[in-house]
Amino acid sequence: MSSFKAIGLAAALLASSASAQTFQRLGACPTLGCVFPPDQADFLAGQFFDIRLEVHAPKNGSEAIGLPPDEKFTFTLAKGDEEPKPVTDFFGIEDAEVESWTFSWFEDLFARDAKQSTVVDVRAKAYRRLALYEPGEYTATLNYNNGSSTKATWLVRDLAEERKAKNIILFIGDGMTTNMITAARLIGHKSVNGKYQSKMQMDKFPVLGHQMTHSIDSFITDSANSASALYSGHKSSVNCLGVYADSSKSPFDDPKVETIAEIFHRLTGGHVGIVSTAFLADATPAGLTAHTRSRNEYGHVVDTFLNGVTNYTWTKWDGPDVLFGGGAEYFYSPALGGISYKNRTYYDEFAKRGYQVLQNRTSLMSAPNDERALGIFAVNNMAKWLDRNVYRDNLNQSLSPAGDKKPALDQPGLKDMTLKAIDILAERSGDKGWFLMSEAASIDKMMHVLDYDRALGELLELDDTIKATVNKLNETDTLKETLILVTADHGHGFDVMGSVDQRYLAAQNTDRKKRDAIGTYQNSGQSQYQNTGNLTYTDSNFPKTWDPRYTLFQGLMADPDRRENWAVHKDGPRKPAVEAEEDDYVVNPKDGKDGILLNGTLPVENDQGVHSLTDVPVFAMGPCQELFGGVYNSVDIFFSMAECFGLGRGTPPAETY
Ligand SMILES: *[C@@H]1O[C@H](CO)[C@@H](O)[C@H](O)[C@H]1NC(C)=O
Ligand SMILES: *[C@@H]1O[C@H](CO)[C@@H](O)[C@H](O)[C@H]1NC(C)=O
Ligand SMILES: *[C@@H]1O[C@H](CO)[C@@H](O)[C@H](O)[C@H]1NC(C)=O
Ligand SMILES: *[C@@H]1O[C@H](CO)[C@@H](O)[C@H](O)[C@H]1NC(C)=O
Ligand SMILES: *[C@@H]1O[C@H](CO)[C@@H](O)[C@H](O)[C@H]1NC(C)=O
Ligand SMILES: *[C@@H]1O[C@H](CO)[C@@H](O)[C@H](O)[C@H]1NC(C)=O
Ligand SMILES: *[C@@H]1O[C@H](CO)[C@@H](O)[C@H](O)[C@H]1NC(C)=O
Ligand SMILES: *[C@@H]1O[C@H](CO)[C@@H](O)[C@H](O)[C@H]1NC(C)=O
Ligand SMILES: *[C@@H]1O[C@H](CO)[C@@H](O)[C@H](O)[C@H]1NC(C)=O
Repeated sequence: MSSFKAIGLAAALLASSASAQTFQRLGACPTLGCVFPPDQADFLAGQFFDIRLEVHAPKNGSEAIGLPPDEKFTFTLAKGDEEPKPVTDFFGIEDAEVESWTFSWFEDLFARDAKQSTVVDVRAKAYRRLALYEPGEYTATLNYNNGSSTKATWLVRDLAEERKAKNIILFIGDGMTTNMITAARLIGHKSVNGKYQSKMQMDKFPVLGHQMTHSIDSFITDSANSASALYSGHKSSVNCLGVYADSSKSPFDDPKVETIAEIFHRLTGGHVGIVSTAFLADATPAGLTAHTRSRNEYGHVVDTFLNGVTNYTWTKWDGPDVLFGGGAEYFYSPALGGISYKNRTYYDEFAKRGYQVLQNRTSLMSAPNDERALGIFAVNNMAKWLDRNVYRDNLNQSLSPAGDKKPALDQPGLKDMTLKAIDILAERSGDKGWFLMSEAASIDKMMHVLDYDRALGELLELDDTIKATVNKLNETDTLKETLILVTADHGHGFDVMGSVDQRYLAAQNTDRKKRDAIGTYQNSGQSQYQNTGNLTYTDSNFPKTWDPRYTLFQGLMADPDRRENWAVHKDGPRKPAVEAEEDDYVVNPKDGKDGILLNGTLPVENDQGVHSLTDVPVFAMGPCQELFGGVYNSVDIFFSMAECFGLGRGTPPAETY
């Protein structure tokens, strides 16, 4: 027995160093004893969180060491140098029941191909809705398997308590990088002899920082995971919203952490608004109130906006004042094809709770400012700036928010939604102040499908929105009491390398000769997007034409198969690849007329591009702007916002729910 155990342990050591890379038994838990929040977690004093403990007993696979599942593990906490106390004494709570389940995972690609999963037996406990009120370092220790232990060092940050900002507006350019901002400036602003004649609004912000976006258990993040980091100060795993990922089947029992919107509302009574050009149940808007391991629980996410976390007393809250975006299919009646949670008609559910329901720009603009508002303007993601303003024929699709299969022709843009959200929040919040998240979602969505022009159009719309916001706040004398942040949640490997002569490209017969159409260095010339065009919209900081003879030679670092012609897609968002066989995508034969066939580097199951590693910029203006300069982690944005709102106060709530 003991020799079996020794051999097993050696194998386990080997396996954990080899397998903890692309396939993981459970992220942030390389040993057989798991503590969530894990080692290195930071907390806001008084922030609610759950503890999840798991002890793993692999039944087979390279880590199997033949031990029975441990039911008697113990967990202690110690503040600083103090004696560790059992968790029950530390928080004055009852012990939790032992839960048990099994899960399986693949140790590597060979195991996946052979469909040979490893099975793990789990014993677990959860302690819910706890908080640490005193700043300082804590040591959490899980003792399991007769002598093994997992230690986690937690830090409750010591923050200034004085409130410096009445309001915070957090603009998120989903997937936006410095490279994209540079490209958008090139097409949206005129340059003469190397000098721009106008600036982007972002260029005028006094403070610039860089945030590192990586996840807790992988170096590339998704939007859910990074929304969790930005909103809660806790790094998490891909697809997680406001939770750490445990290994249980349920997507709803994972250990939760409280978000900035929830804490701000709970401690100060401040008002919250959520605006996005995506469907509202998408990760970036959802992350402010949802707590689930699976961002795809869309119907449930919509219910959380209204009713809070299901089956769980987290905080008493009647929901945000403003919710504007797309995603009508989660709101209209299932009789019309809606796919809502429990087959409810959420337009009615929101109306019953005092929300005015808005479904087009006209009614948005004339809506009263003293009532809460749900504005849903399209099925799925909202129309892109380029389609709303230049190629309007593309709006002729069955995407009406009423679910009546008519087109959604009267959609607002990010600017309309954001300015209206500010009006409503300002009117309703009085002295309490407000927090608004406004997301330009389709920078990311259009970069995914390699539709660079639409992505840059969305980015210029974001900048135009920021400009209008700064002017509006300045006019109403609220600029000095409002912190404005502009950042992203992750990047895409995008850049511009030169220009493409569209006429020459179309005239060549071979792909090798077509490559001569690409002009680099001095042959890139000047941007032609500001040349006298004949477009009818009046906003100044956009291109004057979208299809000049010399377009941008632009692209991503990692792609599916595609044909590139580097020309604007006039017929609607691009679809670069199509499915040839199940999970095997090849170039879309209808895409990229006259272009060059370029084979992808991504696994062939991808029909679009992917996120990248790059740090993303943070622009800050207003009270506490100085907290946002330099290079830091994504979670620091949460802590700096909390500090600016004076939420680092560390006193227990007067009321318990
Ligand atoms: C582990 O056991 C499961 C179920 O008994 C089996 O399907 C799987 O192939 C086994 N895996 C390995 C690595 O032996
Ligand atoms: C722990 O020790 C007990 C008593 O020696 C033994 O019965 C049990 O199998 C051990 N459990 C583990 C997980 O090693
Ligand atoms: C809530 O509890 C009910 C009854 O126990 C259960 O059926 C349901 O799955 C739970 N829902 C969530 C989201 O946890
Ligand atoms: C919702 O409606 C569908 C179709 O009528 C039905 O199959 C499903 O069981 C319903 N779900 C609930 C939770 O009532
Ligand atoms: C906009 O919405 C209002 C109220 O729902 C409706 O009366 C009006 O007809 C709509 N306008 C358009 C252009 O769809
Ligand atoms: C809108 O699309 C429908 C169906 O494709 C077509 O019949 C109709 O002519 C289009 N309308 C316009 C104004 O383009
Ligand atoms: C605010 O408005 C004042 C008065 O018009 C102007 O001088 C100032 O530059 C504006 N500030 C910003 C940041 O736009
Ligand atoms: C101006 O409009 C005409 C007709 O719609 C079009 O052919 C031409 O390309 C446009 N010119 C520019 C510079 O956008
Ligand atoms: C490139 O991809 C196409 C399918 O999109 C395929 O037919 C072709 O063989 C690929 N070429 C190479 C060199 O892999």
